[in-house]
Amino acid sequence: MTQQILLVTLFILFSQRWLFQNILIYNQYEQVTIILKQMNQLVTTDFYNNKKYFSNTKKFRLELSKYYIDLNDTYCIQSDTFKFYHPDIILKDIYTTREIKDQTQEIVQSISFIKIPDFSPENLKNKTILPKALTTPFNYYDSYLTKSNTGLSAMCLFQKHNHMRARQQLAYKNELLNNYHAYVDKLKTMPEFCLQNVTFIPKSYRLWLKDECQAFFKIINTNKYQKKVKKYGPQFISKLGLEVHRGAGISILFQKETKQLIQDYQNGQICGEISNYVIAQKYINNPFLFKGHKIEFRIYFIIASTYPLIVYAYDSSLIRRCATPFNKFSIEKSSHVCNTAILKKKIEAEQMENEEQYYIDWNLDYIQELLLKQKKIKNKNWLNNYLYPKIHNAIQHLIMSTQQFFDKDSKLSEFFGVDFMLTDDLQIYVLEVNSNPQLLKTIPYRVIQNTKLVNDIIEIQISYLRSKYIRLKLLIKKILSRKSTIKKFTKEFKEAYKDKLEPQFQISSQNLFRKIIDKNLKDSKAYNDLIQKQCIL
Ligand SMILES: *[C@@H]1O[C@H](CO)[C@@H](O)[C@H](O)[C@H]1NC(C)=O
Ligand SMILES: *[C@@H]1O[C@H](CO)[C@@H](O)[C@H](O)[C@H]1NC(C)=O
Ligand SMILES: *[C@@H]1O[C@H](CO)[C@@H](O)[C@H](O)[C@H]1NC(C)=O
Repeated sequence: MTQQILLVTLFILFSQRWLFQNILIYNQYEQVTIILKQMNQLVTTDFYNNKKYFSNTKKFRLELSKYYIDLNDTYCIQSDTFKFYHPDIILKDIYTTREIKDQTQEIVQSISFIKIPDFSPENLKNKTILPKALTTPFNYYDSYLTKSNTGLSAMCLFQKHNHMRARQQLAYKNELLNNYHAYVDKLKTMPEFCLQNVTFIPKSYRLWLKDECQAFFKIINTNKYQKKVKKYGPQFISKLGLEVHRGAGISILFQKETKQLIQDYQNGQICGEISNYVIAQKYINNPFLFKGHKIEFRIYFIIASTYPLIVYAYDSSLIRRCATPFNKFSIEKSSHVCNTAILKKKIEAEQMENEEQYYIDWNLDYIQELLLKQKKIKNKNWLNNYLYPKIHNAIQHLIMSTQQFFDKDSKLSEFFGVDFMLTDDLQIYVLEVNSNPQLLKTIPYRVIQNTKLVNDIIEIQISYLRSKYIRLKLLIKKILSRKSTIKKFTKEFKEAYKDKLEPQFQISSQNLFRKIIDKNLKDSKAYNDLIQKQCIL
Protein backbone atom coordinates (compact mmCIF):
# COMPACT_ATOMS: atom_id res chain seq x y z
CA MET A 1 0.00 0.00 0.00
CA THR A 2 2.66 2.47 1.05
CA GLN A 3 4.56 1.45 -2.03
CA GLN A 4 1.62 2.39 -4.22
CA ILE A 5 1.26 5.73 -2.53
CA LEU A 6 4.91 6.34 -3.03
CA LEU A 7 4.63 5.50 -6.74
CA VAL A 8 1.63 7.75 -7.20
CA THR A 9 3.38 10.55 -5.40
CA LEU A 10 6.45 10.08 -7.52
CA PHE A 11 4.31 10.07 -10.65
CA ILE A 12 2.60 13.30 -9.63
CA LEU A 13 5.91 14.88 -8.81
CA PHE A 14 7.38 13.91 -12.15
CA SER A 15 4.40 15.05 -14.17
CA GLN A 16 4.36 18.34 -12.33
CA ARG A 17 7.98 18.80 -13.15
CA TRP A 18 7.30 17.98 -16.77
CA LEU A 19 4.34 20.34 -16.88
CA PHE A 20 6.32 23.01 -15.14
CA GLN A 21 9.19 22.74 -17.59
CA ASN A 22 7.10 22.69 -20.72
CA ILE A 23 4.04 24.80 -20.11
CA LEU A 24 6.22 27.29 -18.39
CA ILE A 25 8.22 27.74 -21.53
CA TYR A 26 5.17 28.28 -23.69
CA ASN A 27 3.85 30.79 -21.17
CA GLN A 28 7.18 32.48 -21.29
CA TYR A 29 7.33 33.06 -25.01
CA GLU A 30 8.29 36.67 -24.45
CA GLN A 31 11.10 35.77 -22.07
CA VAL A 32 12.41 33.10 -24.42
CA THR A 33 12.54 35.66 -27.21
CA ILE A 34 14.41 38.07 -24.98
CA ILE A 35 16.96 35.46 -23.91
CA LEU A 36 17.55 34.38 -27.51
CA LYS A 37 18.03 37.99 -28.49
CA GLN A 38 20.50 38.50 -25.65
CA MET A 39 22.40 35.38 -26.59
CA ASN A 40 22.71 36.63 -30.16
CA GLN A 41 23.94 39.96 -28.79
CA LEU A 42 26.50 38.27 -26.57
CA VAL A 43 27.77 36.27 -29.51
CA THR A 44 28.09 39.40 -31.62
CA THR A 45 29.93 41.21 -28.84
CA ASP A 46 32.22 38.42 -27.70
CA PHE A 47 32.57 36.37 -30.86
CA TYR A 48 32.33 37.11 -34.55
CA ASN A 49 30.84 40.43 -35.62
CA ASN A 50 30.99 41.00 -39.35
CA LYS A 51 30.00 44.66 -39.22
CA LYS A 52 33.10 45.36 -37.21
CA TYR A 53 35.13 43.98 -40.09
CA PHE A 54 33.33 44.68 -43.28
CA SER A 55 31.40 47.93 -42.86
CA ASN A 56 34.23 50.10 -44.10
CA THR A 57 36.31 47.81 -46.17
CA LYS A 58 36.26 47.28 -49.87
CA LYS A 59 39.28 45.02 -49.66
CA PHE A 60 37.17 41.94 -49.73
CA ARG A 61 36.54 40.50 -53.17
CA LEU A 62 33.13 41.69 -54.20
CA GLU A 63 32.40 38.86 -56.54
CA LEU A 64 32.49 36.56 -53.55
CA SER A 65 29.88 38.58 -51.73
CA LYS A 66 27.11 38.79 -54.28
CA TYR A 67 23.78 38.40 -52.68
CA TYR A 68 20.22 38.05 -53.76
CA ILE A 69 18.73 37.80 -50.33
CA ASP A 70 16.58 40.42 -48.76
CA LEU A 71 18.25 40.88 -45.40
CA ASN A 72 16.00 41.89 -42.56
CA ASP A 73 17.25 42.56 -39.04
CA THR A 74 14.30 40.77 -37.47
CA TYR A 75 15.30 37.53 -39.19
CA CYS A 76 17.41 35.88 -36.46
CA ILE A 77 14.95 36.44 -33.67
CA GLN A 78 12.18 34.98 -35.82
CA SER A 79 14.31 32.08 -36.93
CA ASP A 80 15.79 31.24 -33.52
CA THR A 81 12.44 31.44 -31.71
CA PHE A 82 10.84 29.30 -34.39
CA LYS A 83 13.55 26.67 -33.96
CA PHE A 84 13.37 26.85 -30.17
CA TYR A 85 9.74 25.75 -30.31
CA HIS A 86 10.18 23.34 -33.23
CA PRO A 87 13.16 21.22 -32.26
CA ASP A 88 12.65 18.76 -35.12
CA ILE A 89 13.86 21.41 -37.56
CA ILE A 90 17.31 21.04 -36.03
CA LEU A 91 17.27 17.67 -34.33
CA LYS A 92 15.63 15.58 -37.07
CA ASP A 93 15.67 17.41 -40.36
CA ILE A 94 18.09 19.20 -42.64
CA TYR A 95 17.47 22.69 -43.96
CA THR A 96 20.24 23.81 -46.23
CA THR A 97 20.60 25.87 -49.41
CA ARG A 98 23.05 26.67 -52.16
CA GLU A 99 22.62 29.87 -54.14
CA ILE A 100 24.39 28.98 -57.38
CA LYS A 101 23.50 26.33 -59.89
CA ASP A 102 26.14 23.65 -59.66
CA GLN A 103 26.40 20.02 -58.66
CA THR A 104 26.56 20.96 -55.00
CA GLN A 105 23.18 22.67 -55.36
CA GLU A 106 21.67 19.51 -56.83
CA ILE A 107 23.05 17.43 -53.97
CA VAL A 108 22.00 19.89 -51.30
CA GLN A 109 18.55 20.10 -52.85
CA SER A 110 18.09 16.36 -52.61
CA ILE A 111 18.58 16.26 -48.83
CA SER A 112 17.02 19.53 -47.73
CA PHE A 113 13.49 20.63 -47.04
CA ILE A 114 14.18 24.05 -48.51
CA LYS A 115 13.23 24.71 -52.08
CA ILE A 116 16.05 26.63 -53.73
CA PRO A 117 14.76 29.96 -55.00
CA ASP A 118 14.97 30.76 -58.70
CA PHE A 119 17.93 33.07 -59.22
CA SER A 120 17.69 33.23 -63.00
CA PRO A 121 18.37 36.75 -64.32
CA GLU A 122 14.72 37.55 -64.99
CA ASN A 123 13.92 36.65 -61.43
CA LEU A 124 16.76 38.57 -59.84
CA LYS A 125 14.64 41.64 -59.24
CA ASN A 126 12.58 39.64 -56.79
CA LYS A 127 14.77 39.27 -53.76
CA THR A 128 14.24 36.24 -51.61
CA ILE A 129 13.74 36.29 -47.90
CA LEU A 130 15.86 33.81 -45.98
CA PRO A 131 13.87 30.75 -44.92
CA LYS A 132 13.27 30.77 -41.17
CA ALA A 133 14.13 27.08 -40.88
CA LEU A 134 17.56 27.40 -42.54
CA THR A 135 20.15 25.71 -40.32
CA THR A 136 23.22 24.82 -42.38
CA PRO A 137 23.68 26.94 -45.50
CA PHE A 138 26.10 25.54 -48.09
CA ASN A 139 26.72 28.82 -49.87
CA TYR A 140 29.19 29.47 -52.60
CA TYR A 141 29.40 33.20 -51.89
CA ASP A 142 30.35 34.95 -48.68
CA SER A 143 27.33 37.22 -48.66
CA TYR A 144 26.10 36.44 -45.15
CA LEU A 145 29.59 36.98 -43.84
CA THR A 146 30.07 40.32 -45.53
CA LYS A 147 26.66 41.83 -46.07
CA SER A 148 24.48 40.78 -43.17
CA ASN A 149 24.30 41.81 -39.53
CA THR A 150 25.55 38.86 -37.48
CA GLY A 151 22.86 37.59 -35.15
CA LEU A 152 20.25 39.87 -36.69
CA SER A 153 19.80 39.43 -40.43
CA ALA A 154 21.80 36.19 -40.88
CA MET A 155 24.24 33.89 -39.08
CA CYS A 156 21.91 33.34 -36.16
CA LEU A 157 22.38 31.40 -32.94
CA PHE A 158 20.93 28.16 -34.29
CA GLN A 159 22.80 28.16 -37.60
CA LYS A 160 26.12 26.80 -38.79
CA HIS A 161 27.63 28.88 -41.54
CA ASN A 162 29.96 27.38 -44.16
CA HIS A 163 32.34 30.29 -44.55
CA MET A 164 34.77 32.22 -42.40
CA ARG A 165 37.04 35.20 -42.83
CA ALA A 166 40.72 34.55 -43.38
CA ARG A 167 40.25 31.51 -45.55
CA GLN A 168 42.46 33.41 -48.01
CA GLN A 169 45.28 32.96 -45.53
CA LEU A 170 45.36 29.37 -46.72
CA ALA A 171 44.00 29.66 -50.22
CA TYR A 172 46.16 32.52 -51.55
CA LYS A 173 49.59 31.21 -52.43
CA ASN A 174 51.38 34.36 -51.27
CA GLU A 175 49.59 34.37 -47.89
CA LEU A 176 50.13 30.65 -47.43
CA LEU A 177 53.84 31.12 -48.00
CA ASN A 178 54.07 34.16 -45.71
CA ASN A 179 52.34 32.22 -42.97
CA TYR A 180 54.48 29.16 -43.51
CA HIS A 181 57.70 31.18 -43.30
CA ALA A 182 56.55 32.99 -40.15
CA TYR A 183 55.58 29.64 -38.63
CA VAL A 184 58.93 28.05 -39.44
CA ASP A 185 60.66 31.09 -37.91
CA LYS A 186 58.69 30.61 -34.70
CA LEU A 187 59.48 26.89 -34.62
CA LYS A 188 63.17 27.73 -34.95
CA THR A 189 63.00 29.26 -31.46
CA MET A 190 61.68 25.97 -30.08
CA PRO A 191 63.39 22.58 -29.57
CA GLU A 192 65.23 21.58 -32.72
CA PHE A 193 63.12 18.50 -33.47
CA CYS A 194 60.01 20.67 -33.81
CA LEU A 195 60.95 21.39 -37.40
CA GLN A 196 61.33 17.74 -38.38
CA ASN A 197 57.86 17.39 -39.96
CA VAL A 198 57.56 20.88 -41.39
CA THR A 199 59.15 20.15 -44.73
CA PHE A 200 56.15 19.88 -47.04
CA ILE A 201 56.67 23.18 -48.88
CA PRO A 202 59.65 23.22 -51.25
CA LYS A 203 62.25 25.93 -50.70
CA SER A 204 60.69 29.16 -51.94
CA TYR A 205 61.69 32.74 -52.69
CA ARG A 206 59.11 35.50 -52.41
CA LEU A 207 60.12 37.83 -55.21
CA TRP A 208 58.17 40.77 -53.77
CA LEU A 209 60.62 40.78 -50.86
CA LYS A 210 63.90 42.43 -51.75
CA ASP A 211 66.19 40.02 -49.84
CA GLU A 212 64.64 36.84 -51.11
CA CYS A 213 64.40 38.21 -54.63
CA GLN A 214 68.09 39.11 -54.67
CA ALA A 215 69.02 35.75 -53.18
CA PHE A 216 67.10 34.02 -55.96
CA PHE A 217 68.76 35.94 -58.80
CA LYS A 218 72.13 35.35 -57.22
CA ILE A 219 71.51 31.62 -57.45
CA ILE A 220 70.35 31.50 -61.04
CA ASN A 221 73.36 33.52 -62.13
CA THR A 222 75.83 30.94 -60.94
CA ASN A 223 77.60 28.37 -63.12
CA LYS A 224 76.56 25.71 -60.70
CA TYR A 225 72.93 26.48 -61.43
CA GLN A 226 73.47 26.37 -65.21
CA LYS A 227 75.20 23.02 -64.92
CA LYS A 228 72.39 21.63 -62.77
CA VAL A 229 69.75 22.66 -65.29
CA LYS A 230 71.71 20.99 -68.07
CA LYS A 231 72.16 17.83 -66.14
CA TYR A 232 68.90 17.51 -64.20
CA GLY A 233 66.36 19.71 -65.99
CA PRO A 234 64.53 22.77 -64.63
CA GLN A 235 65.38 23.66 -61.02
CA PHE A 236 62.63 26.17 -60.27
CA ILE A 237 59.04 26.97 -61.05
CA SER A 238 57.36 30.32 -60.66
CA LYS A 239 53.87 30.74 -59.26
CA LEU A 240 51.51 33.67 -59.01
CA GLY A 241 49.96 34.47 -55.66
CA LEU A 242 46.44 35.60 -54.73
CA GLU A 243 43.57 33.55 -55.99
CA VAL A 244 45.13 31.91 -59.02
CA HIS A 245 44.33 28.23 -59.05
CA ARG A 246 44.23 25.07 -61.08
CA GLY A 247 47.57 25.39 -62.73
CA ALA A 248 47.09 28.93 -64.00
CA GLY A 249 50.02 31.20 -63.22
CA ILE A 250 52.50 28.36 -62.89
CA SER A 251 55.58 28.37 -65.13
CA ILE A 252 58.36 25.85 -65.24
CA LEU A 253 61.59 27.82 -65.51
CA PHE A 254 62.90 26.49 -68.79
CA GLN A 255 65.34 28.67 -70.68
CA LYS A 256 62.71 30.95 -72.19
CA GLU A 257 60.84 31.49 -68.92
CA THR A 258 64.07 32.10 -67.02
CA LYS A 259 65.13 34.69 -69.57
CA GLN A 260 61.78 36.43 -69.21
CA LEU A 261 62.08 36.53 -65.43
CA ILE A 262 65.61 37.88 -65.64
CA GLN A 263 64.38 40.56 -67.99
CA ASP A 264 61.37 41.45 -65.80
CA TYR A 265 63.53 41.89 -62.72
CA GLN A 266 66.55 43.28 -64.59
CA ASN A 267 68.47 40.35 -63.30
CA GLY A 268 67.59 41.21 -59.73
CA GLN A 269 68.59 44.84 -59.90
CA ILE A 270 65.05 46.06 -59.34
CA CYS A 271 64.21 43.55 -56.63
CA GLY A 272 62.05 45.34 -54.07
CA GLU A 273 60.50 47.60 -56.70
CA ILE A 274 58.20 44.95 -58.12
CA SER A 275 55.42 44.13 -55.74
CA ASN A 276 53.74 41.38 -57.80
CA TYR A 277 53.17 38.24 -55.81
CA VAL A 278 55.53 36.02 -57.78
CA ILE A 279 56.99 33.02 -56.02
CA ALA A 280 60.07 31.17 -57.23
CA GLN A 281 60.01 27.66 -55.86
CA LYS A 282 62.38 24.73 -56.04
CA TYR A 283 61.04 22.32 -58.61
CA ILE A 284 60.54 18.82 -57.20
CA ASN A 285 61.75 16.75 -60.12
CA ASN A 286 61.53 13.24 -58.70
CA PRO A 287 57.77 12.64 -58.74
CA PHE A 288 56.25 9.23 -58.14
CA LEU A 289 55.12 8.06 -61.57
CA PHE A 290 52.02 6.19 -62.61
CA LYS A 291 52.54 4.49 -65.99
CA GLY A 292 55.17 7.11 -66.70
CA HIS A 293 52.98 10.04 -65.72
CA LYS A 294 53.27 12.39 -62.79
CA ILE A 295 50.27 12.36 -60.46
CA GLU A 296 48.68 14.70 -57.92
CA PHE A 297 46.06 13.98 -55.34
CA ARG A 298 43.53 16.21 -53.65
CA ILE A 299 42.57 15.82 -50.00
CA TYR A 300 39.43 17.57 -48.78
CA PHE A 301 39.31 18.99 -45.30
CA ILE A 302 36.91 21.10 -43.31
CA ILE A 303 37.50 23.50 -40.50
CA ALA A 304 34.35 22.43 -38.67
CA SER A 305 34.63 25.08 -35.99
CA THR A 306 36.95 27.79 -34.76
CA TYR A 307 35.62 27.78 -31.17
CA PRO A 308 37.42 25.65 -30.34
CA LEU A 309 39.40 24.76 -33.45
CA ILE A 310 38.10 21.47 -34.91
CA VAL A 311 39.28 20.07 -38.25
CA TYR A 312 38.33 16.97 -40.23
CA ALA A 313 40.11 15.48 -43.26
CA TYR A 314 38.54 13.23 -45.85
CA ASP A 315 39.66 9.64 -46.23
CA SER A 316 39.05 9.53 -49.94
CA SER A 317 41.02 11.41 -52.46
CA LEU A 318 40.88 12.46 -56.04
CA ILE A 319 43.93 11.41 -58.02
CA ARG A 320 44.86 13.08 -61.27
CA ARG A 321 47.60 12.26 -63.64
CA CYS A 322 49.44 14.66 -65.92
CA ALA A 323 48.37 14.70 -69.55
CA THR A 324 51.76 13.91 -71.04
CA PRO A 325 54.36 11.43 -69.77
CA PHE A 326 56.85 12.85 -67.33
CA ASN A 327 60.27 13.78 -68.50
CA LYS A 328 62.48 16.14 -66.54
CA PHE A 329 63.61 17.77 -69.75
CA SER A 330 60.25 17.99 -71.48
CA ILE A 331 59.31 21.57 -72.19
CA GLU A 332 55.64 20.56 -72.36
CA LYS A 333 53.93 22.11 -69.31
CA SER A 334 51.39 19.28 -69.14
CA SER A 335 54.23 16.89 -68.42
CA HIS A 336 54.93 18.73 -65.15
CA VAL A 337 51.60 20.21 -64.01
CA CYS A 338 48.64 17.83 -63.78
CA ASN A 339 45.81 20.21 -63.56
CA THR A 340 42.25 20.34 -64.80
CA ALA A 341 42.60 23.74 -66.40
CA ILE A 342 45.71 22.70 -68.28
CA LEU A 343 44.21 19.33 -69.05
CA LYS A 344 41.19 20.95 -70.67
CA LYS A 345 43.37 22.86 -73.08
CA LYS A 346 45.27 19.76 -73.91
CA ILE A 347 42.07 17.79 -74.37
CA GLU A 348 40.53 20.41 -76.61
CA ALA A 349 43.71 20.65 -78.61
CA GLU A 350 43.93 16.97 -79.19
CA GLN A 351 40.21 16.36 -79.23
CA MET A 352 40.42 13.64 -76.69
CA GLU A 353 36.96 12.43 -76.07
CA ASN A 354 37.17 11.94 -72.37
CA GLU A 355 38.86 13.86 -69.63
CA GLU A 356 38.16 11.01 -67.28
CA GLN A 357 41.16 8.99 -68.36
CA TYR A 358 43.23 11.47 -66.33
CA TYR A 359 41.46 10.63 -63.11
CA ILE A 360 42.93 7.40 -61.97
CA ASP A 361 40.93 6.34 -58.99
CA TRP A 362 39.04 7.93 -56.19
CA ASN A 363 41.06 6.18 -53.55
CA LEU A 364 44.63 6.32 -52.33
CA ASP A 365 44.41 2.56 -51.70
CA TYR A 366 45.30 2.29 -55.33
CA ILE A 367 48.69 3.90 -54.80
CA GLN A 368 49.35 1.55 -51.90
CA GLU A 369 48.58 -1.48 -54.09
CA LEU A 370 50.83 -0.12 -56.76
CA LEU A 371 53.68 0.48 -54.34
CA LEU A 372 53.27 -2.99 -52.88
CA LYS A 373 53.41 -4.47 -56.35
CA GLN A 374 56.49 -2.43 -57.19
CA LYS A 375 57.99 -3.62 -53.88
CA LYS A 376 58.62 -0.02 -52.87
CA ILE A 377 56.80 -0.68 -49.62
CA LYS A 378 56.23 -3.84 -47.61
CA ASN A 379 53.73 -2.68 -45.03
CA LYS A 380 50.13 -3.49 -46.04
CA ASN A 381 49.02 -0.72 -43.68
CA TRP A 382 51.29 1.84 -45.26
CA LEU A 383 48.39 4.14 -46.07
CA ASN A 384 47.08 4.27 -42.51
CA ASN A 385 50.41 4.05 -40.76
CA TYR A 386 52.44 6.31 -42.98
CA LEU A 387 50.74 8.29 -45.72
CA TYR A 388 47.57 9.47 -44.00
CA PRO A 389 49.38 10.56 -40.83
CA LYS A 390 51.82 12.46 -43.02
CA ILE A 391 48.99 14.14 -44.94
CA HIS A 392 47.10 14.96 -41.75
CA ASN A 393 50.21 16.31 -40.15
CA ALA A 394 50.83 18.63 -43.11
CA ILE A 395 47.26 19.97 -42.87
CA GLN A 396 47.67 20.40 -39.10
CA HIS A 397 50.81 22.47 -39.58
CA LEU A 398 49.18 24.53 -42.33
CA ILE A 399 46.36 25.35 -39.96
CA MET A 400 48.71 26.04 -37.05
CA SER A 401 50.48 28.55 -39.26
CA THR A 402 47.26 30.46 -40.06
CA GLN A 403 45.04 29.98 -37.01
CA GLN A 404 45.89 33.37 -35.52
CA PHE A 405 43.80 34.94 -38.31
CA PHE A 406 40.64 32.94 -37.61
CA ASP A 407 37.71 34.54 -35.84
CA LYS A 408 36.79 32.34 -32.93
CA ASP A 409 33.14 31.40 -33.21
CA SER A 410 31.37 28.05 -33.28
CA LYS A 411 29.08 29.12 -36.10
CA LEU A 412 31.92 29.53 -38.59
CA SER A 413 33.40 26.81 -40.76
CA GLU A 414 35.01 26.30 -44.17
CA PHE A 415 35.58 23.59 -46.76
CA PHE A 416 38.96 23.20 -48.50
CA GLY A 417 40.78 20.96 -50.94
CA VAL A 418 44.55 20.66 -50.75
CA ASP A 419 46.63 19.30 -53.64
CA PHE A 420 49.62 17.14 -52.84
CA MET A 421 52.32 15.47 -54.86
CA LEU A 422 54.15 12.30 -53.93
CA THR A 423 57.83 11.88 -54.73
CA ASP A 424 59.66 8.79 -55.84
CA ASP A 425 61.06 8.41 -52.31
CA LEU A 426 57.52 8.73 -50.86
CA GLN A 427 57.75 12.25 -49.45
CA ILE A 428 54.77 14.55 -49.88
CA TYR A 429 54.61 18.21 -50.87
CA VAL A 430 51.72 20.64 -50.74
CA LEU A 431 51.07 22.22 -54.13
CA GLU A 432 48.16 24.50 -53.30
CA VAL A 433 45.13 24.92 -51.08
CA ASN A 434 41.73 25.74 -52.56
CA SER A 435 38.75 27.06 -50.66
CA ASN A 436 35.31 26.36 -52.12
CA PRO A 437 36.73 23.49 -54.18
CA GLN A 438 34.80 22.73 -57.33
CA LEU A 439 32.97 19.43 -57.51
CA LEU A 440 32.81 18.30 -61.11
CA LYS A 441 30.41 15.71 -62.38
CA THR A 442 32.40 14.21 -65.17
CA ILE A 443 31.16 10.64 -64.81
CA PRO A 444 28.30 8.98 -62.89
CA TYR A 445 30.71 7.45 -60.38
CA ARG A 446 32.03 10.90 -59.55
CA VAL A 447 28.52 12.15 -58.94
CA ILE A 448 28.04 9.39 -56.38
CA GLN A 449 31.33 10.26 -54.66
CA ASN A 450 30.55 13.97 -54.58
CA THR A 451 27.10 13.29 -53.18
CA LYS A 452 28.66 11.29 -50.37
CA LEU A 453 31.20 14.05 -49.75
CA VAL A 454 28.56 16.78 -49.44
CA ASN A 455 26.36 14.56 -47.26
CA ASP A 456 29.32 13.84 -45.01
CA ILE A 457 30.07 17.55 -44.64
CA ILE A 458 26.45 18.36 -43.81
CA GLU A 459 26.35 15.54 -41.26
CA ILE A 460 29.29 17.08 -39.42
CA GLN A 461 27.81 20.56 -39.58
CA ILE A 462 24.43 19.45 -38.30
CA SER A 463 25.85 17.18 -35.57
CA TYR A 464 27.72 20.08 -33.99
CA LEU A 465 24.69 22.32 -34.36
CA ARG A 466 22.38 19.73 -32.79
CA SER A 467 24.73 19.30 -29.85
CA LYS A 468 24.93 23.06 -29.31
CA TYR A 469 21.16 23.41 -29.63
CA ILE A 470 20.58 20.87 -26.85
CA ARG A 471 23.06 22.64 -24.57
CA LEU A 472 21.69 26.11 -25.21
CA LYS A 473 18.13 24.97 -24.77
CA LEU A 474 18.97 23.44 -21.40
CA LEU A 475 20.63 26.66 -20.38
CA ILE A 476 17.61 28.73 -21.46
CA LYS A 477 15.33 26.49 -19.42
CA LYS A 478 17.60 26.91 -16.43
CA ILE A 479 17.60 30.69 -16.75
CA LEU A 480 13.81 30.69 -17.03
CA SER A 481 13.29 28.40 -14.05
CA ARG A 482 15.50 30.58 -11.89
CA LYS A 483 13.70 33.69 -13.18
CA SER A 484 17.18 34.99 -13.83
CA THR A 485 18.84 36.79 -16.73
CA ILE A 486 21.56 35.83 -19.15
CA LYS A 487 23.95 38.23 -17.40
CA LYS A 488 24.39 35.81 -14.50
CA PHE A 489 25.07 32.96 -16.90
CA THR A 490 27.58 34.38 -19.37
CA LYS A 491 30.25 31.92 -18.28
CA GLU A 492 27.92 28.97 -18.72
CA PHE A 493 26.78 30.38 -22.02
CA LYS A 494 30.31 30.58 -23.35
CA GLU A 495 30.86 26.98 -22.35
CA ALA A 496 27.62 25.79 -23.97
CA TYR A 497 28.40 27.78 -27.12
CA LYS A 498 31.69 25.90 -27.56
CA ASP A 499 31.46 23.27 -30.31
CA LYS A 500 31.59 19.75 -28.97
CA LEU A 501 29.67 16.60 -29.93
CA GLU A 502 27.12 15.34 -27.43
CA PRO A 503 27.03 11.53 -27.09
CA GLN A 504 23.71 11.24 -28.94
CA PHE A 505 25.07 13.13 -31.98
CA GLN A 506 28.27 11.30 -32.82
CA ILE A 507 29.37 11.24 -36.46
CA SER A 508 28.29 7.98 -38.12
CA SER A 509 30.95 5.39 -38.83
CA GLN A 510 30.21 5.52 -42.57
CA ASN A 511 31.23 9.16 -42.68
CA LEU A 512 34.60 9.36 -44.44
CA PHE A 513 35.81 12.43 -42.56
CA ARG A 514 38.29 11.83 -39.77
CA LYS A 515 39.00 14.31 -37.03
CA ILE A 516 42.56 15.59 -37.18
CA ILE A 517 42.36 18.58 -34.83
CA ASP A 518 40.12 19.01 -31.80
CA LYS A 519 41.15 21.63 -29.30
CA ASN A 520 38.61 20.31 -26.80
CA LEU A 521 41.39 17.82 -26.15
CA LYS A 522 44.68 18.57 -24.46
CA ASP A 523 48.18 18.96 -25.85
CA SER A 524 49.17 16.29 -28.41
CA LYS A 525 45.77 14.62 -28.12
CA ALA A 526 44.29 17.64 -29.90
CA TYR A 527 46.40 16.62 -32.90
CA ASN A 528 45.94 12.84 -32.81
CA ASP A 529 49.39 12.61 -31.26
CA LEU A 530 50.99 13.75 -34.50
CA ILE A 531 52.55 16.90 -33.03
CA GLN A 532 54.67 16.78 -29.91
CA LYS A 533 53.58 18.79 -26.91
CA GLN A 534 56.67 21.01 -26.85
CA CYS A 535 56.08 21.97 -30.48
CA ILE A 536 52.50 23.22 -30.17
CA LEU A 537 52.19 26.97 -30.58
C1 LIG B 1 11.33 42.86 -41.73
O1 LIG B 1 10.46 41.78 -41.41
C2 LIG B 1 9.38 42.17 -40.57
C3 LIG B 1 8.62 40.92 -40.15
O2 LIG B 1 8.46 40.04 -41.21
C4 LIG B 1 8.50 43.15 -41.33
O3 LIG B 1 7.41 43.56 -40.53
C5 LIG B 1 9.35 44.38 -41.72
O4 LIG B 1 8.59 45.24 -42.51
C6 LIG B 1 10.59 43.94 -42.48
N1 LIG B 1 11.48 45.09 -42.66
C7 LIG B 1 11.91 45.46 -43.83
C8 LIG B 1 12.79 46.66 -43.85
O5 LIG B 1 11.65 44.85 -44.85
C1 LIG C 1 8.06 38.79 -58.20
O1 LIG C 1 7.19 38.48 -57.13
C2 LIG C 1 5.86 38.85 -57.33
C3 LIG C 1 5.08 38.58 -56.05
O2 LIG C 1 5.41 37.34 -55.48
C4 LIG C 1 5.29 38.07 -58.52
O3 LIG C 1 3.94 38.43 -58.77
C5 LIG C 1 6.13 38.38 -59.75
O4 LIG C 1 5.70 37.61 -60.84
C6 LIG C 1 7.60 38.10 -59.47
N1 LIG C 1 8.41 38.56 -60.57
C7 LIG C 1 9.15 37.74 -61.28
C8 LIG C 1 9.94 38.37 -62.37
O5 LIG C 1 9.20 36.56 -61.06
C1 LIG D 1 56.50 14.00 -36.61
O1 LIG D 1 55.53 13.08 -37.07
C2 LIG D 1 55.56 11.81 -36.44
C3 LIG D 1 54.47 10.96 -37.05
O2 LIG D 1 54.47 11.02 -38.43
C4 LIG D 1 55.34 11.98 -34.95
O3 LIG D 1 55.43 10.72 -34.30
C5 LIG D 1 56.37 12.93 -34.39
O4 LIG D 1 56.14 13.14 -33.01
C6 LIG D 1 56.30 14.25 -35.12
N1 LIG D 1 57.32 15.15 -34.62
C7 LIG D 1 57.03 16.29 -33.99
C8 LIG D 1 58.20 17.11 -33.60
O5 LIG D 1 55.91 16.70 -33.77
